[in-house]
Amino acid sequence: MNEQLVDRFGRVHRDLRISLTDRCSLRCTYCMPAEGVPWLARSTMLSTEEIVHVARVGVSLGITEIRLTGGEPLLRVDIVDVVRRLTALTGPAGSPEVSLTTNALRLPGLASDLKDAGLSRVNISLDTLDRAKFLELTRRDKLVETLAGIAAADAAGLHPVKINAVAMRGVNDDEVVALTRFAVDRGYQMRFIEQMPLDAGHTWDRAQMVTQAEILERLTAEFTLTEVPGRGAAPAELWTVDGGPGTVGVIASVTQPFCGACDRLRLTADGQLRACLFSQTETNVRDLLRGSSDAPDAAAIGIGPGQAVRIGTTAPARPASAAVDVDTALADAYRRC
Ligand code: GTP
Ligand code: 5AD
Ligand code: SF4
Repeated sequence: MNEQLVDRFGRVHRDLRISLTDRCSLRCTYCMPAEGVPWLARSTMLSTEEIVHVARVGVSLGITEIRLTGGEPLLRVDIVDVVRRLTALTGPAGSPEVSLTTNALRLPGLASDLKDAGLSRVNISLDTLDRAKFLELTRRDKLVETLAGIAAADAAGLHPVKINAVAMRGVNDDEVVALTRFAVDRGYQMRFIEQMPLDAGHTWDRAQMVTQAEILERLTAEFTLTEVPGRGAAPAELWTVDGGPGTVGVIASVTQPFCGACDRLRLTADGQLRACLFSQTETNVRDLLRGSSDAPDAAAIGIGPGQAVRIGTTAPARPASAAVDVDTALADAYRRC
């Protein structure tokens, strides 16, 4: 296979975000309720073998970047092995760059093994530098451990270290300058994120959201910002801080959606392949891999609100035992995204 993944909007998909687990060691208020969410049953989660299989087909179709996410991806016990096997894949553009978005808690023990396994860099969530606020926000008293994890990533050479902070009114919006100084002083890239309506508790309120404009107002009161050109498909718009080299970014997913330039595909921990965070259409690649009778001929399962609809199958159904060319079916699933 030597082709690119171009969708119906002309977007070329080069970036695959793989969720390795829905579990997390923190409970950020904008993400999960205190009790967590109903976790996926282990049997419905993709095995490492299956993840590598889906990724291998993606890489053969032009995926050049793989981002491991969660939940918290470092909770996966074989995370180092996952990274080693993904970085060993090769496609028309060589091996993919493999990076990770994490809460950093397990980085002190893992950073150098991850680096040795080929991990290129990490993005780390840090919403506050204040211990009491950290506890309030994540419902865990883990600021010290998070900071240790950030330092471990830096020491292991997982560069650039990017720090993500979701801006929240009356919670951490007064820390925009302090967080930026913290990052710039250490050579990390600071990024503020507009809060998106992704919380399980549905408490998101647009009027309460801290906007990019407000974040920039606070930053420019303190620093000289100069826009960095050439953003490409990246979600963050970047500025150098006081002439550089340090930079600060804003991910304005709500006030300035970047969907038109987005080049991401997503694989959920339970094996759904889809194009977008907000997409309602996904393909169940777990069933393809496991030979479910619901998945002959790479039938796409479009999950509409409240119902499952089967689309795109014209061939007669084959028994599950029939030899199905799984790679071809997976490639079709990628092309449908
Ligand atoms: P790099 O730019 O490659 O370092 O990664 P990233 O910023 O895409 O990844 P990260 O996991 O750090 O995500 C940062 C923020 O961007 C999070 O709030 C994500 O939810 C948001 N984000 C990532 N991908 C998308 C996307 O496709 N659409 C939208 N709307 N937001 C996204
Ligand atoms: N809105 C914006 N960003 C979010 N994140 C988690 N939930 C939300 C949300 N509702 C961020 C985390 C992490 C990144 C992967 O996504 O802070 O840094
Ligand atoms: Fe865990 Fe990230 Fe959600 Fe916080 S935002 S609870 S660190 S998955």
